[in-house]
Amino acid sequence: MIRGRLITLEGGDGAGKTSQLGLIRSLIRARGVSLLETREPGGTPLSEAIREWVLSGGADPPDPVAELLLVFAARRQHWVRRIEPALESGTWVLCDRFVDSTYAYQGSGRGLPWGWIETLEHWVLGPHGRPDLTLYFDTPVDQALARVRERGHLNRIEREAPDWHEHVRAGYRARLEEDPDRFIRVDAGLAREQVQAALEDALVRRFDTWQGNAPAPVGSGPG
Ligand code: TMP
Repeated sequence: MIRGRLITLEGGDGAGKTSQLGLIRSLIRARGVSLLETREPGGTPLSEAIREWVLSGGADPPDPVAELLLVFAARRQHWVRRIEPALESGTWVLCDRFVDSTYAYQGSGRGLPWGWIETLEHWVLGPHGRPDLTLYFDTPVDQALARVRERGHLNRIEREAPDWHEHVRAGYRARLEEDPDRFIRVDAGLAREQVQAALEDALVRRFDTWQGNAPAPVGSGPG
């Protein structure tokens, strides 16, 4: 059995990733593979409940460290119950947000050390947690937040000040610099049709490089 591919979507709030989901889905399906679409925080009943706590906050919003631990609790459940079994069975996984969100939001946004996140990442995901590909939707913060306001009700994180969202964007850019081969940066500030054309081109090229270069069969390798 050939292990499936893990593809993640990332970007600030209002960056425009959701509007390109249909295109991404159809390009993956065109490869003839089975696909699990999911999101973080969320993806299992427990993880979706944690999402509510993180995003609504209610009368007792989590402090930054509690928020970090909550997103990783949600991630652990999601990883063992859904993502890892899917990848093991050869299914590709398209996940709307993943660990890079934690580096950008809890790390650069809330100011928590990236080293903590790295430790939790290895603890929670083990050795296979690095996505095969991450599509990073990069949009100027003013433009992105205007989109968020148009959508209506703002969650706890979306209500943070523009400067805070600039830190999140800087965090994403730093992640991209650290691991450029994993990322495709999408200039999502452009018109929708332009974004779509650039994205399609980049994705088809990337998938073509994967053809004939499949990951090792599950259970193979040294040892
Ligand atoms: P969205 O999935 O609808 O874009 O919203 C999820 C929100 O949760 C978004 O503001 C980013 C935030 N988030 C974190 O703060 N840390 C994380 O690790 C993840 C996955 C999301």
